Amino acid sequence: MVLLQEDRGFDLVGKYDQDAINGFDSQLINQIFRLLEPEKAETVLDAMAGDGNLAHGLYQYCVTHKIDCPKLVVLEYSQVQTKFASNKLAQANAEVIWGDVLTMTSRDSHIRIPDNSFDRVMIKSSNHEIPRSYQLELYRSIYRVLKPGGLFINLGMLFDDPQERDELREIARVKDTYAGMDDLAKNRHFLTREELYGWLTTSGFVNVKCEQAFNYRINSSIVAQQYFSEEQRLQADLEHQAAQVRAYRMRLNGRIQFDRNVSLMLCPGEITTARKPLV
Ligand SMILES: C[S@@+](CC[C@H](N)C(=O)[O-])C[C@H]1O[C@@H](n2cnc3c(N)ncnc32)[C@H](O)[C@@H]1O
Repeated sequence: MVLLQEDRGFDLVGKYDQDAINGFDSQLINQIFRLLEPEKAETVLDAMAGDGNLAHGLYQYCVTHKIDCPKLVVLEYSQVQTKFASNKLAQANAEVIWGDVLTMTSRDSHIRIPDNSFDRVMIKSSNHEIPRSYQLELYRSIYRVLKPGGLFINLGMLFDDPQERDELREIARVKDTYAGMDDLAKNRHFLTREELYGWLTTSGFVNVKCEQAFNYRINSSIVAQQYFSEEQRLQADLEHQAAQVRAYRMRLNGRIQFDRNVSLMLCPGEITTARKPLV
């Protein structure tokens, strides 16, 4: 099945700093690279890659640690972000594909990535952009392109409490609407651990495990600056924080803190790994 998403969202956002929005530091990102063990991999896919910052980080990690960098492939749905990735990765000799992760197919040449292509697939902060009805297809697609014995590493939000998840969904809907990301306002799906581990297992993955739990640290002023136009920034920021006021369970659990005109939202995240069996 092919998902025809609207392109507007990440074409419209243009240049933005995903890690600054989420409050990620280099220690967290380096943990992905440690788990990935690039010295043991020949081919790595950065899927749903945005501007290619994760693949670029891996390239730099390899340079710093004097490791031969594996062949890097990045795949991204937005044409604008794909162009940013091509520029960012010019030195890294990476292959940049404007494509759909659900089919692992290029959107211009229509060439499909063959089965068993990669030793590693990594996804950072993106799986919540795939609608619920396509989530299983996402992990099946990743499984297909991994080599037997290959590793999938996902860094993303992961909830134990479905009520907190539903509340974040409402907050994100307000932010996405003001940012003009209508497709995401309709289709985003934040996952519970039960859902992610269940879908990975149904796809055939084994050894599904939490490698590191952490908190996203989302500062409302950074969200406002990165996503909202100057003309509507104040109004959008207020509506975004008003949606946070309504997130009763998240507030009860200390996940949203207000300080003067700014809020800090702490959302549960996890680096999860899952392996494709050898046979
Ligand atoms: C929140 S951004 C994260 C980008 C990047 N991984 C990072 O951490 O900076 C999610 C990205 O997933 C891309 N995306 C959404 N649906 C996709 C699909 N079906 N196939 C490939 N990429 C997709 C979006 O265009 C967007 O660039």
